[in-house]
Amino acid sequence: MNVAQIATTRRTCKAFDPTRKIPGSVLDDLKTVLRFAPSSVNSQPWHFVIAGSDAGKEALAATLDGAFAYNAGKVRGASHVVVFCARTALDEAYLNSLLDQEEADGRFATPDARAGQSKSRSFYVGLHRDQLNDADAWADRQIYIALGNLMQAAAALGVDACPMEGIDVLKLDEALGLPQKGLRAVVMCALGYGSEQDFNARLPKSRLPADTVFSEI
Ligand SMILES: Cc1cc2nc3c(=O)[nH]c(=O)nc-3n(C[C@H](O)[C@H](O)[C@H](O)COP(=O)(O)O)c2cc1C
Repeated sequence: MNVAQIATTRRTCKAFDPTRKIPGSVLDDLKTVLRFAPSSVNSQPWHFVIAGSDAGKEALAATLDGAFAYNAGKVRGASHVVVFCARTALDEAYLNSLLDQEEADGRFATPDARAGQSKSRSFYVGLHRDQLNDADAWADRQIYIALGNLMQAAAALGVDACPMEGIDVLKLDEALGLPQKGLRAVVMCALGYGSEQDFNARLPKSRLPADTVFSEI
């Protein structure tokens, strides 16, 4: 399938077959897609909690009650569920760890190259933290790039996905002990294989027409 075929045939899975599990090699590919997602100034302001065990998925499903109860069955039935977490602070130690990784990966031919990357990244981190006051929203935007890449990759690999904003991030934070780790929950994505109950698989896709969403200049 080419990218347009993937885009027009993939769909959000509304009910998973709990007996079907994602093979290890496919899961490894999806983890690679997450880890290699691009982010502004390579800030990688994320951490991914992946629930593959029944206990792990149950811990996530238990946070989904009230208005979000409609998503609990998807979490229980999925093969794996990814909790996309954002780092609550991009502090000096974290920024240095990024530089050290880039150095280890051979990105800097000279000390000046490291200093230049440090200056550029610190500028954007400071801009969002101190001037635009949108550091959390900035991190969330990077995380949604990883989510989009994961969804597209899952579809290419024949894995069904359900992205979920219908979650209680505060309950998830508590259940996973995220604040103590300098993290907060942002969004989740259930992965696996759809069951007969997946009504969305039988519905046609609906999108606004091209002349509404594109302008050519
Ligand atoms: C960021 C995001 C959050 C979403 N949250 C939920 C959700 O909580 N539960 C759900 O069943 N679907 C959720 N969806 C699925 C959307 O409703 C779905 O993508 C949209 O209706 C288009 O349908 P399609 O994905 O089948 O093409 C979400 C999708 C996105 C991209």
